This record gives sequence, structure tokens and C-alpha cells, in this order.
Amino acid sequence: MIWFLSQLCALCLCVGIQASEKPNIVIFLVDDLGIGDIGAFGNDTLRTPHVDSICENGVKLDHDLAAASLCTPSRAALMTSRYAIRSGMESVILSLMSPQGLPASEYTLPQMLQEQGYATALIGKWHLGWNRQLMDHYYSPLKRGFDFFFGLPYTLMKDVGGKQEVFEEIGVLGKLYKLLGICLVTSLIVSRLINKKIGVTMALIVLVLAGNYIFNLKTFGIWNSLLVRNDRIVEMHLNLTSITQRLIGEGQSFIKSQHTAEKPVFLFMSWLHVHSHMHPQPPFKGASQHGPYGDAVEETDWAVGQIMDTLKELQMLDNTLFYFSSDHGGDKLEHDEEERLVGGWNGLFRGSKGDGSQEGGIRVPTCVQWPAKLPRRTLVSEPTSQMDLMPTLASIVGGRMPTDRYIDGKDILPLLTGDELRTPHEFLFHYTGQRVSAIRYMPEESRVVYKLHYIWPQWEPGTDTWASFRDQIFATNTPLPKPLLFDVARDPREESPLDTSIEPYSSIMKYIEEAKLKHKQSLIGLRPGYKGNPLEFLNSHRSTFVEYAVQKLSDYF
Ligand SMILES: *[C@@H]1O[C@H](CO)[C@@H](O)[C@H](O)[C@H]1NC(C)=O
Ligand SMILES: *[C@@H]1O[C@H](CO)[C@@H](O)[C@H](O)[C@H]1NC(C)=O
Repeated sequence: MIWFLSQLCALCLCVGIQASEKPNIVIFLVDDLGIGDIGAFGNDTLRTPHVDSICENGVKLDHDLAAASLCTPSRAALMTSRYAIRSGMESVILSLMSPQGLPASEYTLPQMLQEQGYATALIGKWHLGWNRQLMDHYYSPLKRGFDFFFGLPYTLMKDVGGKQEVFEEIGVLGKLYKLLGICLVTSLIVSRLINKKIGVTMALIVLVLAGNYIFNLKTFGIWNSLLVRNDRIVEMHLNLTSITQRLIGEGQSFIKSQHTAEKPVFLFMSWLHVHSHMHPQPPFKGASQHGPYGDAVEETDWAVGQIMDTLKELQMLDNTLFYFSSDHGGDKLEHDEEERLVGGWNGLFRGSKGDGSQEGGIRVPTCVQWPAKLPRRTLVSEPTSQMDLMPTLASIVGGRMPTDRYIDGKDILPLLTGDELRTPHEFLFHYTGQRVSAIRYMPEESRVVYKLHYIWPQWEPGTDTWASFRDQIFATNTPLPKPLLFDVARDPREESPLDTSIEPYSSIMKYIEEAKLKHKQSLIGLRPGYKGNPLEFLNSHRSTFVEYAVQKLSDYF
């Protein structure tokens, strides 16, 4: 018996020591931040000292890539280490009412850490689904590996804060008004020339249907800006004035609540900044040289610093791994109601959020700091992917990666420590929606980074921007008549295509094409992802409204 107890104690001790050795992990993910917006990545007018300090005291990834150029697919890939198409998450979730989300069959980064004894929290934006049916919270972060959630199940958008409306901007509302007009005139004609009753009935049906639609789209920002704590709606129609401060406060409380617990901390700070609607607060409002967007970037940097300070106060800094990044490239077209540009800056890269094949859409400013184990002032210029985060953390904490499915990320810990100098990726596939729109190829024996493009955005001639957001959204993206090959390492702006009719480029192109075929084979048998249903907007407010009302009522009983 005594022997057994002593063994048990030894075991506890051992487990205890291991647990305390596991690093705390804090992810800072900014929404729509451009790679050119951060001091450490070359910006000399925006002040980002806290983010810069992460890069300075750790490893800066100079060639890091998001798996997609839009929020939902990029975040799904980061959470699962798999291209979003594998989980059916390749298109953006358009409303909180879409019955779409990260499937339960996916094994996620927070689940992996939870299994390793981590206390896990998501603070801020989720955008990977909410309800499958009324109020079931089937896709809640709490069901995908997080112990605690405070934030927006959906995403911030223009409609939440200002007078601008996304559906107006892309022309949906305009079309709806036109259609309504035509239908009413037709009803009038019918009532005059054919039958009064039929005409009036027609007009009523049209008014009810269109009215519901217009009402939902006009109030879209209210139904979709729920602030949720775990399973409860705490605010409907988000108060943007205080949100950044509240996100910081929740992050700090979570760290403090775990401070004396045995568990290491996994905190995912998923900022609502710097997505529109810009909502910087004093003292940042009006303080930067770059308008509301610059103010929001500087406020985000400060918020990052606030979280880091808390860990420092608790003397947890040394064994905390910080991962800072953006979910994809900056949105060059974004503007506010005064027509000021309020989108990110992608540095020298061409293209923008939404351009899945272009560097400006997918290059992200990533830095990793972990004083206990990683070198300082280190630059890694090898191509890496945000999908590498999960296998790398698994390797650090002794977590498991599933073996029954394709995992697209790689363990890049050796690259971060400097034990390895070459990227473990031979190919990276760049998706635009369901389509592989470009492929990056890193031959083992050289430093060249080839990129083969299959489509090219229909930018305004002579520029690297779309004429409008509307054009970008509804673009058909016709394939290039002949794929274009570049060396991104030497030609980061991708301006001088290599001649694929001659060697060695013709063979290289052939080799990449073979890899594409093989990749396509790995996708056989996938169920097509949810593509959205425009009629959902007809019902969009009901579900949230009912849920909110039920909660409010239950408070009284
Ligand atoms: C710094 O960021 C601002 C705002 O995005 C941008 O306008 C400016 O060009 C950037 N500066 C540099 C040197 O990249
Ligand atoms: C939003 O929060 C701020 C700061 O807490 C508060 O002063 C303001 O009254 C709130 N606005 C609304 C509409 O509740």
C-alpha cells in the first residue's frame, strides 16, 4: 500500500512538473491587418512597439502565409491545420443564421491543447459558425475545444458601427428596390386591367416578402453583432465604444484565474480590430498619421501590450509562447462613409484581401516569441504557413496530430530554433474559394520559390486593385489561358513571368502540375461545402430575436 502511494505521489509529482513546464500559449490574431502595417515589417510611420517587441525578442517569419485570403477559410485552416476545403469551410460564412460551421469531425488546435491539460479560452471573433438549428449552438467555440468564450460568434462589419451597409455596397439592396418597384407596378396594372382582387393580393405578397428581406438586410448589423459569454448573449447590437477594453479585461481575467491553477494557459485573442467598422477610442482616436485605420492599428498594438503586461506582472512571461499574426492580407479597397481609405497596407506585395492567389492577399506579419526556448532577433525567410501552428504546438506540448486524415501543416519548430534552415513544405496550394488558384513550389536543392498562377484577378488595368468591392465579390475569375510562373523570392511583386516554353521552367511547370493532380486526388470523396442560401436572410432576424427574448425572459423566472 505504501509502495503504491509512493508510486502515485511520484506520478503526481511527475505530471505536475511536466504541466508546469508546458509553456503558456497566447495567440494574437488581428483581422484584416496588412503585412505593411507593422513596424517590424518595415512601417516607419505607424507605432507598433509591442508587436515589434515580439518580433525583436523572438522569431520573425518573413514569408508566412495564410491558407486563404478571407476570414472563415483562413481561420478554419489555422484551427485544423488543413486546407479549408477539407472541412467544407472554403466559403465565408455570410450571416450568423447560416447553418454552416466547423464540423464536429474536425480535430482542432484548442482540442489538442485541452487534451494536454491546457485551460483554453477564445476572446473576440470566431466566425466559424454558431447555430445549426434554432439556439442549439452546435458550432460554438465551446464545442470545438474552448473552455471559455467571450466575443462575437460572427464578425465585426460596417453595418455594426456606422451608416454604411455591406449589402447596399455590393448592390443587393438596390436590386431589391428595383424588383419591388417592378412587382408593384405589375400588380397595379393587373388590378386595373384584369382583376382588382388579384392585383391587390399580388401587391400584398410582394410587400411582405420584400419587406422582410429589406428589413433583415437593413438591420443586418444588429442581428449579427451578438456579444456572447460562453452560451449566453450578453449584448445584442455591440457597443463598439468599450469593446476593445472589454476584450482586454476578459483576457486578463482569464490569465489571472488560471494563475494559481495547475493548468497551463491557452489564450486566443482574436481582435475585432482592424476590420471595418473602425472604432479606435481615445487616446488613440485621431492620434496616428494614418486616419481611423492607423488609429485602430495602434490601439491593437496597445491591447497586445496590455495582455503581455499581465503575464509579466504574474511572472509568466518567460515561459509563454506568443504568436502574433493577421488572418490574411489587408483590405486595400476598404473605405469609410467619408470615403477615406480604411484598409490595410500590404507593403510591396500586389493584391489584397480576397485575392487568394496574390501575395498581398495571403502574406501575413507573423512573429513568435518564447523566451525560454526560442532565439531572439531571428529572421526566418523560408515559406511557412499558418497551418503549421498546430503541428508545431503539438510537437512542443507533446500533443497528438490525427493520423486518419490529411494534415497540411508541418512542424516548424526546428525552423524556429534554427536547427533546420529549409522549409519542410515542398508545395503550398493557394485557394480562392474551391479552386486552387496558385501553387508555391520550394525545390529542396535551391532557395528559389516558384509560384504558378492559374487565375489572375481582373484588376483595373495598370493597377493591382479592383475597381470596386462589388467587382471583386462577383468576379468570375476566368482561368489564365496559360499558367504564369514566377520566382517569388526574387520577384516578390510577381511582375516578370518566367518563360515556361523553355527549360528548366517547362519541366518545373510540369512537376507542379503533377503535384496539383496529386493534391486533387487527396480531395476525392469530400462532401461539397455549404454554399449559402440567399433565402436565409428572409429569416435572419427571427432566430437571434427569439434567442435573445428567451434569455431575457428566463432572467425573470
Ligand atoms: C504604414 O502604414 C500605413 C497605413 O496602412 C501606410 O499608409 C503606409 O504606406 C505604411 N508605410 C510604409 C513605409 O509601409
Ligand atoms: C457604450 O459603452 C460606453 C463605455 O462603457 C458607455 O459610456 C456608453 O453609454 C455605451 N453606449 C450604449 C449605447 O450603451
